[in-house]
Amino acid sequence: MKMRYISITVIVAVMLLVAVGGYVLPQVRQDVPARVVMDNSGGRVIFTHQAHAQDYGFECADCHHDNIGQEQPLACGSCHPSTFDAKFRAGHQKAFPNEEACMRCHSEVPEGPLAAEDKPDTENIPTRADAFHGQCMSCHEQSGGPYGKDSCYACHAR
Ligand code: HEC
Ligand code: HEC
Ligand code: HEC
Ligand code: HEC
Ligand code: HEC
Repeated sequence: MKMRYISITVIVAVMLLVAVGGYVLPQVRQDVPARVVMDNSGGRVIFTHQAHAQDYGFECADCHHDNIGQEQPLACGSCHPSTFDAKFRAGHQKAFPNEEACMRCHSEVPEGPLAAEDKPDTENIPTRADAFHGQCMSCHEQSGGPYGKDSCYACHAR
């Protein structure tokens, strides 16, 4: 009788461990995605995120602006859209979780409508492709990795 309770307890404990493990482990992995797939008009780019973050010896802040005060970095595309068009302007206030994020582009916490001179200058905020090309290539030029005019297909699928 007792023996049966012990084996039931053991089985339940194992199932619990597997369930908790299955819940916890993928979440840990999501904090540092292994690969990031980027679909764009230049052809799909598969970015080996984990190799860059762990094997090549860089800090998270070498690529993620570190002064946003978030553990989970904001998607680059919430600030670096493909163009700063009417669609971005209409939707962007909902794309940010806190005032600190607004302050990357606005000089004060914005309360619209804004005077023309208080609007951020989009010339100083790179669009998505420019930000990525700039960041990927300037680091590669310094530290190794593909860059330059013949390097396109090292990152882009044909
Ligand atoms: C070599 C540059 C680089 C390094 C180093 C780096 N990341 Fe990233 N990370 C990126 C890029 C680029 C993306 C893709 C963002 C996108 O597609 O908009 C990304 C995406 C992410 C995402 C997915 C969220 C999102 O914005 O789409 C998380 C979470 C993340 N990184 C966490 C980390 C952590 C934690 C570290 C440090 C252990 C780290 N990264 C180091 C470049 C880097
Ligand atoms: C909260 C908004 C925000 C997020 C999120 C963001 N950026 Fe930026 N980024 C900016 C702004 C604003 C600038 C313009 C200059 C500045 O303030 O640094 C900029 C500038 C840049 C530049 C050019 C200047 C430099 O540092 O070389 C690159 C490259 C860049 N961002 C890449 C990225 C990448 C890659 C990600 C995602 C991993 C990202 N940014 C996420 C707002 C953001
Ligand atoms: C990636 C840069 C960026 C970030 C981050 C950002 N904004 Fe903006 N914001 C802009 C740009 C660009 C404009 C439009 C300038 C123009 O119309 O020429 C703008 C315009 C505005 C306007 C004026 C709209 C109008 O038509 O008068 C308000 C209000 C505003 N932003 C609020 C916010 C708030 C609130 C946040 C944070 C939750 C925020 N912004 C974060 C770039 C940004
Ligand atoms: C902070 C520096 C840094 C940044 C930013 C960076 N890389 Fe790299 N990358 C490297 C280094 C260093 C290597 C070379 C590793 C080697 O040869 O051992 C490399 C190698 C590569 C390679 C060839 C090997 C591999 O891992 O597949 C590709 C492709 C690549 N990077 C893509 C990208 C893309 C795409 C981005 C932008 C989203 C990016 N890298 C941003 C440092 C960087
Ligand atoms: C180090 C890797 C890397 C190299 C080398 C590279 N690119 Fe890119 N490219 C990217 C990334 C990352 C993006 C942005 C992906 C995104 O926005 O999701 C991108 C985006 C683009 C886009 C899309 C623009 C848009 O707005 O949709 C074009 C076009 C492009 N690249 C052309 C080129 C050409 C031409 C070359 C060679 C001269 C080149 N790329 C070399 C990584 C690279």
